[in-house]
Amino acid sequence: MYRTHTCGELRISDAGRQVTLAGWVQRSRKMGGMTFVDLRDRYGITQLVFNEEQNQELCEKANKLGREYVIQVEGVVSERFSKNANIPTGDIEILVSRLNILNSSLTPPFTIEDNTDGGDDIRMKYRYLDLRRTAVRKNLELRHKMTIEVRKYLDSKGFIEVETPILVGSTPEGARDFVVPSRMNPGQFYALPQSPQTLKQLLMVSGFDRYFQIAKCFRDEDLRADRQPEFTQIDCEMSFVEQDDVINLFEGMTKYLFKELRGVELTEPFLRMPWIDAMRYYGSDKPDMRFDMRFVELMDLLQGHGFSVFDNATYIGGICAEGAAHYTRKQIDALTDFVKRPQIGAKGLVYARVEADGNVKSSVDKFYTQEVLQQLKERFNAHPGDLILILSGDDAMKTRKQLGELRLEMGNQLGLRDKNKFALLWVVDFPMFEWSEEEGRLMAMHHPFTHPKDEDIPLLDTTPEAVRADAYDMVCNGIEVGGGSIRIHDAQLQAKMFQILGFTPERAQEQFGFLMNAFKYGAPPHGGLAYGLDRWVSIFAGLDSIRDCIAFPKNNSGRDVMLDAPSELEPKQLDELNLAVKPVK
Ligand code: AMO
Repeated sequence: MYRTHTCGELRISDAGRQVTLAGWVQRSRKMGGMTFVDLRDRYGITQLVFNEEQNQELCEKANKLGREYVIQVEGVVSERFSKNANIPTGDIEILVSRLNILNSSLTPPFTIEDNTDGGDDIRMKYRYLDLRRTAVRKNLELRHKMTIEVRKYLDSKGFIEVETPILVGSTPEGARDFVVPSRMNPGQFYALPQSPQTLKQLLMVSGFDRYFQIAKCFRDEDLRADRQPEFTQIDCEMSFVEQDDVINLFEGMTKYLFKELRGVELTEPFLRMPWIDAMRYYGSDKPDMRFDMRFVELMDLLQGHGFSVFDNATYIGGICAEGAAHYTRKQIDALTDFVKRPQIGAKGLVYARVEADGNVKSSVDKFYTQEVLQQLKERFNAHPGDLILILSGDDAMKTRKQLGELRLEMGNQLGLRDKNKFALLWVVDFPMFEWSEEEGRLMAMHHPFTHPKDEDIPLLDTTPEAVRADAYDMVCNGIEVGGGSIRIHDAQLQAKMFQILGFTPERAQEQFGFLMNAFKYGAPPHGGLAYGLDRWVSIFAGLDSIRDCIAFPKNNSGRDVMLDAPSELEPKQLDELNLAVKPVK
Protein backbone atom coordinates (compact mmCIF):
# COMPACT_ATOMS: atom_id res chain seq x y z
CA MET A 1 0.00 0.00 0.00
CA TYR A 2 1.47 3.36 -1.04
CA ARG A 3 -0.20 5.30 1.75
CA THR A 4 -2.50 4.91 4.71
CA HIS A 5 -3.56 8.56 4.75
CA THR A 6 -3.46 11.67 2.58
CA CYS A 7 -1.38 14.72 3.45
CA GLY A 8 -4.46 16.65 4.57
CA GLU A 9 -5.97 14.11 6.84
CA LEU A 10 -4.10 13.62 10.12
CA ARG A 11 -5.11 15.45 13.29
CA ILE A 12 -4.05 15.54 16.93
CA SER A 13 -6.45 12.66 17.64
CA ASP A 14 -4.21 10.48 15.42
CA ALA A 15 -1.15 11.04 17.67
CA GLY A 16 0.71 7.79 18.25
CA ARG A 17 -0.45 6.14 15.02
CA GLN A 18 1.97 4.49 12.66
CA VAL A 19 1.23 5.91 9.19
CA THR A 20 2.50 5.88 5.61
CA LEU A 21 2.20 9.00 3.45
CA ALA A 22 3.17 9.78 -0.11
CA GLY A 23 3.45 13.09 -1.92
CA TRP A 24 5.68 15.89 -3.20
CA VAL A 25 8.34 17.78 -1.29
CA GLN A 26 7.07 21.34 -1.02
CA ARG A 27 10.12 22.57 0.86
CA SER A 28 12.59 21.39 3.45
CA ARG A 29 14.63 23.19 6.08
CA LYS A 30 17.41 22.11 8.35
CA MET A 31 17.45 23.42 11.90
CA GLY A 32 20.26 22.13 14.07
CA GLY A 33 20.05 18.37 14.13
CA MET A 34 16.52 18.29 12.74
CA THR A 35 15.30 18.37 9.15
CA PHE A 36 11.73 19.44 8.48
CA VAL A 37 10.01 18.62 5.20
CA ASP A 38 6.59 19.82 4.06
CA LEU A 39 4.95 16.96 2.20
CA ARG A 40 2.17 17.97 -0.18
CA ASP A 41 -0.59 16.27 -2.10
CA ARG A 42 -3.97 17.39 -3.42
CA TYR A 43 -5.45 17.21 0.06
CA GLY A 44 -2.99 19.30 2.03
CA ILE A 45 0.43 19.54 3.61
CA THR A 46 1.88 17.49 6.45
CA GLN A 47 5.13 18.25 8.23
CA LEU A 48 7.72 15.48 8.35
CA VAL A 49 10.57 15.44 10.87
CA PHE A 50 13.91 13.71 10.53
CA ASN A 51 16.09 13.62 13.63
CA GLU A 52 19.84 13.33 13.16
CA GLU A 53 20.38 12.00 16.67
CA GLN A 54 17.91 9.19 16.17
CA ASN A 55 18.86 8.16 12.64
CA GLN A 56 21.76 9.95 11.03
CA GLU A 57 21.67 8.02 7.77
CA LEU A 58 17.97 8.72 7.25
CA CYS A 59 18.47 12.38 8.05
CA GLU A 60 21.28 12.66 5.50
CA LYS A 61 19.01 11.10 2.91
CA ALA A 62 16.31 13.65 3.80
CA ASN A 63 18.80 16.51 3.47
CA LYS A 64 19.32 15.56 -0.15
CA LEU A 65 15.65 15.85 -1.08
CA GLY A 66 14.97 18.54 -3.62
CA ARG A 67 11.77 20.48 -4.24
CA GLU A 68 9.06 18.40 -5.93
CA TYR A 69 10.74 15.04 -5.28
CA VAL A 70 8.08 12.35 -4.94
CA ILE A 71 8.54 10.40 -1.74
CA GLN A 72 6.91 7.87 0.52
CA VAL A 73 7.47 7.95 4.26
CA GLU A 74 6.57 5.83 7.22
CA GLY A 75 6.50 7.15 10.75
CA VAL A 76 4.55 7.99 13.86
CA VAL A 77 2.10 10.87 14.21
CA SER A 78 3.21 13.14 17.00
CA GLU A 79 1.96 16.38 18.55
CA ARG A 80 3.88 19.37 17.27
CA PHE A 81 5.81 21.57 19.65
CA SER A 82 5.16 24.78 17.74
CA LYS A 83 1.79 24.44 16.09
CA ASN A 84 0.75 26.00 12.78
CA ALA A 85 -2.80 27.32 13.00
CA ASN A 86 -2.87 28.09 9.26
CA ILE A 87 -3.21 24.50 8.09
CA PRO A 88 -5.62 21.78 9.26
CA THR A 89 -2.74 19.36 9.96
CA GLY A 90 -0.83 22.08 11.82
CA ASP A 91 -1.06 20.39 15.24
CA ILE A 92 0.89 17.30 14.25
CA GLU A 93 3.99 16.12 12.47
CA ILE A 94 5.34 12.73 11.40
CA LEU A 95 8.49 11.40 13.08
CA VAL A 96 9.84 9.56 10.05
CA SER A 97 11.40 6.11 10.38
CA ARG A 98 11.58 5.16 6.69
CA LEU A 99 12.01 7.26 3.55
CA ASN A 100 11.49 5.93 0.07
CA ILE A 101 12.33 8.24 -2.84
CA LEU A 102 9.81 7.38 -5.55
CA ASN A 103 11.08 9.93 -8.04
CA SER A 104 13.42 12.87 -8.23
CA SER A 105 12.55 16.19 -9.84
CA LEU A 106 14.34 18.94 -11.66
CA THR A 107 14.09 22.24 -9.83
CA PRO A 108 10.73 23.62 -10.97
CA PRO A 109 10.91 26.84 -13.00
CA PHE A 110 8.72 28.66 -10.46
CA THR A 111 7.70 28.11 -6.86
CA ILE A 112 4.69 25.88 -6.33
CA GLU A 113 3.12 28.20 -3.79
CA ASP A 114 -0.03 30.34 -3.66
CA ASN A 115 2.06 33.44 -4.23
CA THR A 116 4.25 32.02 -6.92
CA ASP A 117 7.18 33.87 -8.49
CA GLY A 118 6.21 32.49 -11.92
CA GLY A 119 4.82 34.84 -14.59
CA ASP A 120 1.86 33.92 -16.77
CA ASP A 121 3.83 32.57 -19.72
CA ILE A 122 6.07 30.26 -17.77
CA ARG A 123 3.16 28.95 -15.71
CA MET A 124 1.23 28.15 -18.89
CA LYS A 125 4.23 26.40 -20.43
CA TYR A 126 4.51 24.23 -17.33
CA ARG A 127 0.80 24.12 -16.63
CA TYR A 128 1.05 20.65 -15.06
CA LEU A 129 3.21 22.24 -12.35
CA ASP A 130 0.95 25.25 -12.05
CA LEU A 131 -1.95 22.87 -11.43
CA ARG A 132 -0.12 21.58 -8.35
CA ARG A 133 -0.73 24.97 -6.74
CA THR A 134 -3.67 25.02 -4.37
CA ALA A 135 -5.05 28.26 -5.78
CA VAL A 136 -5.43 26.80 -9.28
CA ARG A 137 -6.46 23.33 -8.18
CA LYS A 138 -9.25 24.76 -6.03
CA ASN A 139 -10.83 26.33 -9.11
CA LEU A 140 -10.93 22.96 -10.84
CA GLU A 141 -12.41 21.36 -7.74
CA LEU A 142 -15.13 24.00 -7.78
CA ARG A 143 -15.72 23.36 -11.47
CA HIS A 144 -16.09 19.65 -10.75
CA LYS A 145 -18.56 20.35 -7.95
CA MET A 146 -20.51 22.66 -10.19
CA THR A 147 -20.94 20.08 -12.96
CA ILE A 148 -21.97 17.46 -10.40
CA GLU A 149 -24.61 19.80 -8.96
CA VAL A 150 -25.82 20.82 -12.42
CA ARG A 151 -26.26 17.17 -13.35
CA LYS A 152 -28.07 16.45 -10.08
CA TYR A 153 -30.43 19.38 -10.51
CA LEU A 154 -31.23 18.79 -14.16
CA ASP A 155 -31.65 15.05 -13.62
CA SER A 156 -34.14 15.80 -10.84
CA LYS A 157 -36.10 17.91 -13.34
CA GLY A 158 -36.26 15.14 -15.94
CA PHE A 159 -33.46 16.30 -18.26
CA ILE A 160 -31.53 13.66 -20.23
CA GLU A 161 -27.85 14.18 -21.01
CA VAL A 162 -27.16 13.45 -24.66
CA GLU A 163 -23.80 13.81 -26.39
CA THR A 164 -23.76 15.43 -29.80
CA PRO A 165 -20.91 15.16 -32.32
CA ILE A 166 -17.82 17.34 -32.37
CA LEU A 167 -17.24 16.84 -36.09
CA VAL A 168 -20.17 18.64 -37.66
CA GLY A 169 -20.87 20.75 -40.72
CA SER A 170 -19.92 24.40 -41.09
CA THR A 171 -22.81 26.82 -40.74
CA PRO A 172 -22.80 30.49 -41.62
CA GLU A 173 -23.97 33.09 -39.06
CA GLY A 174 -22.32 33.38 -35.67
CA ALA A 175 -18.56 33.41 -35.18
CA ARG A 176 -15.89 31.95 -37.43
CA ASP A 177 -15.67 28.14 -37.45
CA PHE A 178 -12.69 25.95 -36.68
CA VAL A 179 -12.48 23.44 -39.51
CA VAL A 180 -11.09 19.93 -39.80
CA PRO A 181 -10.11 18.42 -43.15
CA SER A 182 -11.57 15.04 -44.01
CA ARG A 183 -9.07 12.45 -45.33
CA MET A 184 -11.81 10.15 -46.55
CA ASN A 185 -13.61 12.94 -48.36
CA PRO A 186 -10.81 14.85 -50.07
CA GLY A 187 -11.38 18.57 -50.38
CA GLN A 188 -14.13 18.51 -47.76
CA PHE A 189 -14.13 19.78 -44.23
CA TYR A 190 -15.92 19.27 -40.99
CA ALA A 191 -16.44 22.21 -38.65
CA LEU A 192 -16.26 22.04 -34.88
CA PRO A 193 -19.57 23.08 -33.29
CA GLN A 194 -19.91 26.67 -32.09
CA SER A 195 -22.68 25.22 -29.94
CA PRO A 196 -24.96 22.19 -30.27
CA GLN A 197 -27.81 24.56 -31.21
CA THR A 198 -29.36 22.84 -34.22
CA LEU A 199 -28.67 19.35 -32.89
CA LYS A 200 -30.50 20.03 -29.64
CA GLN A 201 -33.43 21.35 -31.64
CA LEU A 202 -33.43 18.11 -33.63
CA LEU A 203 -33.51 16.19 -30.33
CA MET A 204 -36.71 18.07 -29.52
CA VAL A 205 -38.13 16.98 -32.88
CA SER A 206 -37.14 13.44 -31.78
CA GLY A 207 -39.29 13.83 -28.69
CA PHE A 208 -36.55 13.95 -26.03
CA ASP A 209 -38.55 16.69 -24.33
CA ARG A 210 -35.78 17.81 -21.95
CA TYR A 211 -32.13 17.65 -23.03
CA PHE A 212 -28.92 18.88 -21.53
CA GLN A 213 -25.24 18.48 -22.22
CA ILE A 214 -22.05 19.79 -20.73
CA ALA A 215 -20.77 20.55 -24.17
CA LYS A 216 -17.48 21.70 -25.62
CA CYS A 217 -17.95 24.58 -28.07
CA PHE A 218 -15.44 26.10 -30.47
CA ARG A 219 -15.35 29.63 -31.86
CA ASP A 220 -12.59 31.27 -33.81
CA GLU A 221 -12.98 34.77 -32.43
CA ASP A 222 -10.76 37.39 -30.81
CA LEU A 223 -10.02 36.44 -27.23
CA ARG A 224 -10.66 38.37 -24.05
CA ALA A 225 -10.61 37.65 -20.33
CA ASP A 226 -13.99 35.93 -20.57
CA ARG A 227 -13.51 34.24 -23.96
CA GLN A 228 -11.62 31.14 -24.98
CA PRO A 229 -11.58 29.56 -28.46
CA GLU A 230 -12.80 26.35 -26.88
CA PHE A 231 -15.09 26.64 -23.92
CA THR A 232 -17.84 24.70 -22.24
CA GLN A 233 -21.57 25.26 -22.17
CA ILE A 234 -24.24 23.83 -19.95
CA ASP A 235 -26.54 23.46 -22.91
CA CYS A 236 -30.26 22.83 -22.42
CA GLU A 237 -33.42 22.55 -24.47
CA MET A 238 -37.04 21.90 -23.53
CA SER A 239 -40.24 21.15 -25.45
CA PHE A 240 -43.72 22.59 -24.89
CA VAL A 241 -42.45 25.66 -23.07
CA GLU A 242 -42.83 29.40 -23.16
CA GLN A 243 -40.24 31.96 -22.13
CA ASP A 244 -41.43 32.01 -18.52
CA ASP A 245 -41.06 28.22 -18.18
CA VAL A 246 -37.44 28.33 -19.30
CA ILE A 247 -36.62 31.38 -17.21
CA ASN A 248 -38.23 29.96 -14.07
CA LEU A 249 -36.51 26.60 -14.34
CA PHE A 250 -33.05 28.06 -14.86
CA GLU A 251 -33.52 30.74 -12.27
CA GLY A 252 -34.25 27.84 -9.93
CA MET A 253 -31.04 26.11 -11.00
CA THR A 254 -29.04 29.29 -10.48
CA LYS A 255 -30.39 29.73 -6.97
CA TYR A 256 -29.66 26.07 -6.23
CA LEU A 257 -26.06 26.45 -7.42
CA PHE A 258 -25.48 29.61 -5.39
CA LYS A 259 -26.74 27.84 -2.29
CA GLU A 260 -24.78 24.63 -2.84
CA LEU A 261 -21.53 26.17 -4.02
CA ARG A 262 -21.36 29.52 -2.23
CA GLY A 263 -23.84 29.19 0.60
CA VAL A 264 -25.62 32.26 -0.80
CA GLU A 265 -29.43 32.29 -0.60
CA LEU A 266 -30.97 34.30 -3.43
CA THR A 267 -34.58 34.61 -2.36
CA GLU A 268 -35.97 37.35 -4.60
CA PRO A 269 -37.05 36.71 -8.19
CA PHE A 270 -34.34 38.00 -10.54
CA LEU A 271 -34.94 41.35 -12.13
CA ARG A 272 -36.12 41.17 -15.75
CA MET A 273 -34.96 44.14 -17.76
CA PRO A 274 -35.98 44.80 -21.37
CA TRP A 275 -32.93 45.17 -23.60
CA ILE A 276 -33.95 48.69 -24.53
CA ASP A 277 -33.89 49.76 -20.86
CA ALA A 278 -30.54 48.08 -20.30
CA MET A 279 -29.11 50.09 -23.16
CA ARG A 280 -30.90 53.33 -22.29
CA TYR A 281 -30.08 53.35 -18.59
CA TYR A 282 -26.81 51.42 -18.38
CA GLY A 283 -25.39 51.50 -21.91
CA SER A 284 -24.91 47.74 -21.98
CA ASP A 285 -26.86 44.59 -22.75
CA LYS A 286 -25.20 43.09 -19.68
CA PRO A 287 -25.47 45.75 -17.00
CA ASP A 288 -23.59 45.28 -13.76
CA MET A 289 -26.36 45.79 -11.22
CA ARG A 290 -24.20 45.59 -8.11
CA PHE A 291 -24.59 49.34 -8.20
CA ASP A 292 -27.11 51.64 -9.85
CA MET A 293 -25.56 54.85 -11.24
CA ARG A 294 -28.32 54.95 -13.81
CA PHE A 295 -28.03 57.27 -16.82
CA VAL A 296 -29.97 60.52 -16.93
CA GLU A 297 -30.72 62.00 -20.36
CA LEU A 298 -30.05 65.71 -20.64
CA MET A 299 -30.76 66.87 -24.19
CA ASP A 300 -33.69 69.09 -23.17
CA LEU A 301 -31.78 70.68 -20.32
CA LEU A 302 -28.35 71.29 -21.80
CA GLN A 303 -28.98 72.13 -25.46
CA GLY A 304 -29.46 75.67 -26.65
CA HIS A 305 -27.10 77.43 -24.25
CA GLY A 306 -24.33 78.12 -26.70
CA PHE A 307 -22.08 75.16 -25.89
CA SER A 308 -21.56 73.91 -29.41
CA VAL A 309 -20.45 70.39 -28.48
CA PHE A 310 -23.79 69.78 -26.78
CA ASP A 311 -25.78 71.83 -29.26
CA ASN A 312 -24.58 69.63 -32.12
CA ALA A 313 -25.12 66.35 -30.28
CA THR A 314 -27.99 63.92 -30.77
CA TYR A 315 -27.51 62.44 -27.32
CA ILE A 316 -26.38 63.95 -24.02
CA GLY A 317 -26.42 61.80 -20.92
CA GLY A 318 -24.70 61.53 -17.61
CA ILE A 319 -24.13 59.59 -14.43
CA CYS A 320 -23.80 60.70 -10.85
CA ALA A 321 -20.83 59.29 -8.95
CA GLU A 322 -21.82 59.61 -5.32
CA GLY A 323 -19.15 61.05 -3.07
CA ALA A 324 -16.67 61.63 -5.88
CA ALA A 325 -16.69 65.44 -5.87
CA HIS A 326 -13.27 65.36 -4.24
CA TYR A 327 -11.79 64.08 -7.53
CA THR A 328 -8.79 66.19 -8.39
CA ARG A 329 -8.09 67.80 -11.73
CA LYS A 330 -5.60 65.00 -12.35
CA GLN A 331 -8.14 62.29 -11.62
CA ILE A 332 -10.68 63.91 -13.91
CA ASP A 333 -8.06 64.25 -16.65
CA ALA A 334 -7.40 60.53 -16.25
CA LEU A 335 -11.12 59.82 -16.64
CA THR A 336 -11.14 62.00 -19.75
CA ASP A 337 -8.21 60.02 -21.15
CA PHE A 338 -10.10 56.84 -20.26
CA VAL A 339 -13.19 57.76 -22.29
CA LYS A 340 -11.03 59.02 -25.16
CA ARG A 341 -9.18 55.71 -25.50
CA PRO A 342 -9.70 54.31 -29.01
CA GLN A 343 -11.57 51.28 -27.61
CA ILE A 344 -14.12 53.66 -26.10
CA GLY A 345 -13.93 56.55 -28.50
CA ALA A 346 -15.62 59.47 -26.71
CA LYS A 347 -14.54 62.97 -27.73
CA GLY A 348 -14.41 64.44 -24.24
CA LEU A 349 -15.92 64.53 -20.79
CA VAL A 350 -17.86 67.24 -19.00
CA TYR A 351 -18.10 67.23 -15.24
CA ALA A 352 -20.08 69.06 -12.58
CA ARG A 353 -19.23 68.98 -8.90
CA VAL A 354 -21.83 69.52 -6.19
CA GLU A 355 -19.99 71.55 -3.58
CA ALA A 356 -20.55 71.46 0.17
CA ASP A 357 -22.85 74.54 0.00
CA GLY A 358 -24.99 72.93 -2.69
CA ASN A 359 -23.60 75.08 -5.50
CA VAL A 360 -22.65 73.30 -8.69
CA LYS A 361 -19.30 73.95 -10.36
CA SER A 362 -18.86 72.57 -13.81
CA SER A 363 -16.21 72.41 -16.52
CA VAL A 364 -18.60 74.33 -18.79
CA ASP A 365 -19.67 77.00 -16.31
CA LYS A 366 -19.40 79.77 -18.83
CA PHE A 367 -22.32 78.38 -20.83
CA TYR A 368 -24.67 77.50 -18.01
CA THR A 369 -26.20 79.61 -15.28
CA GLN A 370 -26.27 78.35 -11.70
CA GLU A 371 -30.02 77.97 -12.17
CA VAL A 372 -29.55 75.43 -14.99
CA LEU A 373 -26.83 73.69 -13.03
CA GLN A 374 -29.18 73.41 -10.06
CA GLN A 375 -31.74 71.76 -12.33
CA LEU A 376 -29.01 69.42 -13.45
CA LYS A 377 -28.34 68.53 -9.83
CA GLU A 378 -32.02 67.84 -9.28
CA ARG A 379 -32.26 65.59 -12.33
CA PHE A 380 -29.67 63.33 -10.75
CA ASN A 381 -30.97 63.82 -7.25
CA ALA A 382 -27.35 64.72 -6.52
CA HIS A 383 -26.11 65.86 -3.13
CA PRO A 384 -23.14 67.85 -1.89
CA GLY A 385 -20.04 65.75 -2.46
CA ASP A 386 -21.32 64.12 -5.66
CA LEU A 387 -19.69 64.29 -9.07
CA ILE A 388 -21.78 64.38 -12.25
CA LEU A 389 -20.08 63.12 -15.42
CA ILE A 390 -21.57 63.86 -18.82
CA LEU A 391 -20.92 62.54 -22.32
CA SER A 392 -22.43 63.58 -25.60
CA GLY A 393 -22.29 62.34 -29.16
CA ASP A 394 -23.98 62.14 -32.51
CA ASP A 395 -24.95 58.47 -32.21
CA ALA A 396 -27.12 57.76 -29.18
CA MET A 397 -26.33 54.03 -28.89
CA LYS A 398 -22.60 54.58 -29.32
CA THR A 399 -22.58 57.35 -26.71
CA ARG A 400 -24.59 55.23 -24.28
CA LYS A 401 -22.04 52.45 -24.63
CA GLN A 402 -19.26 54.92 -23.91
CA LEU A 403 -21.12 56.18 -20.87
CA GLY A 404 -21.62 52.52 -19.86
CA GLU A 405 -17.84 52.02 -19.88
CA LEU A 406 -17.38 55.14 -17.78
CA ARG A 407 -20.04 53.88 -15.35
CA LEU A 408 -18.15 50.60 -14.92
CA GLU A 409 -14.88 52.43 -14.45
CA MET A 410 -16.43 54.65 -11.76
CA GLY A 411 -17.88 51.50 -10.17
CA ASN A 412 -14.34 50.12 -10.01
CA GLN A 413 -12.83 53.33 -8.68
CA LEU A 414 -15.49 53.74 -6.01
CA GLY A 415 -15.25 50.09 -4.90
CA LEU A 416 -18.81 49.26 -5.94
CA ARG A 417 -17.95 46.02 -7.74
CA ASP A 418 -17.40 43.70 -4.81
CA LYS A 419 -16.66 40.15 -5.95
CA ASN A 420 -18.54 38.72 -3.01
CA LYS A 421 -21.73 40.46 -3.98
CA PHE A 422 -23.90 38.95 -6.71
CA ALA A 423 -26.39 40.87 -8.81
CA LEU A 424 -28.36 38.66 -11.20
CA LEU A 425 -30.87 39.64 -13.81
CA TRP A 426 -32.47 38.55 -17.03
CA VAL A 427 -32.18 40.86 -19.99
CA VAL A 428 -35.23 40.18 -22.17
CA ASP A 429 -36.88 41.41 -25.38
CA PHE A 430 -33.73 41.64 -27.45
CA PRO A 431 -34.09 43.00 -30.96
CA MET A 432 -34.40 40.16 -33.45
CA PHE A 433 -31.90 41.68 -35.88
CA GLU A 434 -28.98 44.06 -35.89
CA TRP A 435 -27.53 45.83 -38.86
CA SER A 436 -24.06 44.69 -39.87
CA GLU A 437 -21.96 47.41 -41.50
CA GLU A 438 -19.45 44.78 -42.56
CA GLU A 439 -21.98 42.52 -44.26
CA GLY A 440 -24.31 45.31 -45.37
CA ARG A 441 -27.36 43.36 -44.20
CA LEU A 442 -29.40 42.45 -41.15
CA MET A 443 -27.94 39.72 -38.94
CA ALA A 444 -29.68 37.69 -36.26
CA MET A 445 -28.75 39.20 -32.89
CA HIS A 446 -29.09 35.86 -31.09
CA HIS A 447 -29.24 33.26 -33.84
CA PRO A 448 -31.48 32.64 -36.86
CA PHE A 449 -33.58 30.01 -35.04
CA THR A 450 -34.92 32.47 -32.48
CA HIS A 451 -38.66 33.06 -32.42
CA PRO A 452 -39.86 36.63 -32.88
CA LYS A 453 -42.30 37.91 -30.27
CA ASP A 454 -45.76 36.89 -31.49
CA GLU A 455 -47.06 40.43 -31.47
CA ASP A 456 -44.11 41.59 -33.60
CA ILE A 457 -44.47 38.95 -36.35
CA PRO A 458 -46.49 41.30 -38.61
CA LEU A 459 -43.52 43.71 -38.55
CA LEU A 460 -41.26 41.14 -40.22
CA ASP A 461 -42.55 42.26 -43.61
CA THR A 462 -42.56 45.99 -42.96
CA THR A 463 -39.95 46.98 -40.37
CA PRO A 464 -37.87 43.95 -39.46
CA GLU A 465 -35.42 46.08 -37.47
CA ALA A 466 -38.25 46.82 -35.00
CA VAL A 467 -39.02 43.14 -34.35
CA ARG A 468 -38.22 41.91 -30.87
CA ALA A 469 -37.14 38.34 -30.18
CA ASP A 470 -38.29 35.84 -27.59
CA ALA A 471 -34.69 35.83 -26.38
CA TYR A 472 -33.19 36.23 -22.93
CA ASP A 473 -29.73 36.48 -21.41
CA MET A 474 -28.81 35.85 -17.81
CA VAL A 475 -26.37 38.41 -16.49
CA CYS A 476 -24.36 38.22 -13.29
CA ASN A 477 -22.18 41.13 -12.16
CA GLY A 478 -21.96 42.57 -15.65
CA ILE A 479 -21.06 39.27 -17.29
CA GLU A 480 -23.32 37.42 -19.72
CA VAL A 481 -23.41 33.99 -18.11
CA GLY A 482 -26.09 32.47 -20.27
CA GLY A 483 -28.44 33.08 -23.12
CA GLY A 484 -31.25 31.42 -24.96
CA SER A 485 -34.55 31.81 -26.70
CA ILE A 486 -37.82 30.28 -27.73
CA ARG A 487 -37.23 28.77 -31.15
CA ILE A 488 -39.04 28.84 -34.40
CA HIS A 489 -40.64 25.42 -34.95
CA ASP A 490 -42.48 26.26 -38.11
CA ALA A 491 -40.70 25.55 -41.40
CA GLN A 492 -42.34 28.50 -43.16
CA LEU A 493 -41.45 31.05 -40.51
CA GLN A 494 -37.91 29.66 -40.44
CA ALA A 495 -37.69 30.05 -44.23
CA LYS A 496 -38.88 33.65 -43.93
CA MET A 497 -36.23 34.35 -41.34
CA PHE A 498 -33.48 33.10 -43.66
CA GLN A 499 -34.93 35.27 -46.41
CA ILE A 500 -34.71 38.39 -44.21
CA LEU A 501 -31.15 37.42 -43.37
CA GLY A 502 -30.36 37.51 -47.07
CA PHE A 503 -30.29 33.80 -47.88
CA THR A 504 -31.72 32.67 -51.20
CA PRO A 505 -34.13 29.71 -50.76
CA GLU A 506 -31.50 27.47 -52.40
CA ARG A 507 -28.75 28.56 -50.05
CA ALA A 508 -31.01 28.28 -46.99
CA GLN A 509 -31.87 24.74 -48.10
CA GLU A 510 -28.20 23.91 -48.67
CA GLN A 511 -27.09 25.23 -45.28
CA PHE A 512 -30.05 24.52 -43.07
CA GLY A 513 -32.15 22.06 -45.07
CA PHE A 514 -31.66 19.38 -42.41
CA LEU A 515 -33.42 21.56 -39.86
CA MET A 516 -36.16 22.95 -42.07
CA ASN A 517 -36.95 19.45 -43.34
CA ALA A 518 -37.07 18.11 -39.79
CA PHE A 519 -39.59 20.83 -38.95
CA LYS A 520 -41.90 19.28 -41.54
CA TYR A 521 -42.21 16.11 -39.43
CA GLY A 522 -44.00 17.36 -36.36
CA ALA A 523 -41.66 19.71 -34.51
CA PRO A 524 -42.94 20.60 -31.03
CA PRO A 525 -42.79 24.18 -29.76
CA HIS A 526 -39.47 24.39 -27.94
CA GLY A 527 -36.90 26.68 -26.39
CA GLY A 528 -33.83 26.59 -24.24
CA LEU A 529 -30.65 28.23 -23.21
CA ALA A 530 -26.95 27.69 -22.65
CA TYR A 531 -24.83 28.78 -19.73
CA GLY A 532 -21.14 29.48 -20.10
CA LEU A 533 -19.70 27.04 -17.58
CA ASP A 534 -16.27 28.67 -17.54
CA ARG A 535 -17.78 32.08 -16.83
CA TRP A 536 -19.97 30.69 -14.08
CA VAL A 537 -17.10 28.98 -12.33
CA SER A 538 -14.92 32.07 -12.56
CA ILE A 539 -17.65 34.20 -10.98
CA PHE A 540 -18.16 31.69 -8.19
CA ALA A 541 -14.42 31.54 -7.61
CA GLY A 542 -13.94 35.33 -7.87
CA LEU A 543 -11.49 35.06 -10.78
CA ASP A 544 -10.53 37.80 -13.23
CA SER A 545 -10.14 35.44 -16.18
CA ILE A 546 -11.88 32.23 -17.18
CA ARG A 547 -8.44 30.80 -17.97
CA ASP A 548 -7.88 30.17 -14.28
CA CYS A 549 -10.68 27.62 -14.10
CA ILE A 550 -9.66 25.73 -17.25
CA ALA A 551 -7.10 22.95 -16.81
CA PHE A 552 -5.25 23.58 -20.06
CA PRO A 553 -6.29 26.94 -21.51
CA LYS A 554 -5.10 28.79 -24.59
CA ASN A 555 -3.28 32.11 -24.43
CA ASN A 556 -4.49 35.34 -26.02
CA SER A 557 -3.16 34.31 -29.42
CA GLY A 558 -5.15 31.09 -29.21
CA ARG A 559 -2.00 29.02 -28.56
CA ASP A 560 -1.50 26.18 -26.17
CA VAL A 561 2.08 27.00 -25.23
CA MET A 562 2.50 23.74 -23.33
CA LEU A 563 1.56 21.51 -26.28
CA ASP A 564 2.91 24.05 -28.74
CA ALA A 565 -0.33 23.97 -30.70
CA PRO A 566 -1.33 24.89 -33.32
CA SER A 567 1.65 23.64 -35.31
CA GLU A 568 2.60 22.81 -38.87
CA LEU A 569 1.78 19.43 -40.41
CA GLU A 570 4.25 17.00 -41.92
CA PRO A 571 4.16 17.02 -45.75
CA LYS A 572 2.99 13.39 -45.62
CA GLN A 573 -0.01 14.30 -43.51
CA LEU A 574 -0.87 17.23 -45.80
CA ASP A 575 -0.62 14.93 -48.74
CA GLU A 576 -3.01 12.40 -47.21
CA LEU A 577 -5.45 15.21 -46.60
CA ASN A 578 -5.04 16.47 -50.12
CA LEU A 579 -4.02 19.87 -48.78
CA ALA A 580 -1.41 22.39 -49.89
CA VAL A 581 -0.42 25.23 -47.58
CA LYS A 582 0.18 28.66 -49.09
CA PRO A 583 3.33 30.40 -47.91
CA VAL A 584 2.52 32.51 -44.84
CA LYS A 585 2.48 36.22 -45.71
P1 AMO B 1 -24.40 32.04 -26.81
O1 AMO B 1 -23.61 32.24 -28.02
O2 AMO B 1 -25.00 33.24 -26.16
O3 AMO B 1 -25.65 31.09 -27.08
O4 AMO B 1 -23.53 31.25 -25.75
C1 AMO B 1 -24.06 30.87 -24.51
C2 AMO B 1 -23.11 31.24 -23.39
O5 AMO B 1 -21.82 30.68 -23.60
C3 AMO B 1 -20.82 31.54 -23.06
N1 AMO B 1 -19.83 31.84 -24.11
C4 AMO B 1 -18.48 31.77 -23.94
N2 AMO B 1 -17.74 31.47 -22.88
C5 AMO B 1 -16.39 31.45 -23.03
N3 AMO B 1 -15.76 31.72 -24.17
C6 AMO B 1 -16.46 32.03 -25.30
N4 AMO B 1 -15.82 32.29 -26.45
C7 AMO B 1 -17.90 32.08 -25.20
N5 AMO B 1 -18.90 32.35 -26.07
C8 AMO B 1 -20.05 32.20 -25.40
C9 AMO B 1 -21.52 32.77 -22.56
C10 AMO B 1 -22.85 32.73 -23.29
O6 AMO B 1 -23.87 33.35 -22.55
N6 AMO B 1 -26.83 28.08 -28.77
C11 AMO B 1 -26.99 29.32 -28.02
C12 AMO B 1 -27.73 29.13 -26.73
C13 AMO B 1 -29.20 28.90 -26.91
O7 AMO B 1 -29.84 29.69 -27.63
O8 AMO B 1 -29.72 27.95 -26.29
C14 AMO B 1 -25.61 29.89 -27.73
O9 AMO B 1 -24.59 29.29 -27.97
O10 AMO B 1 -21.72 32.66 -21.17
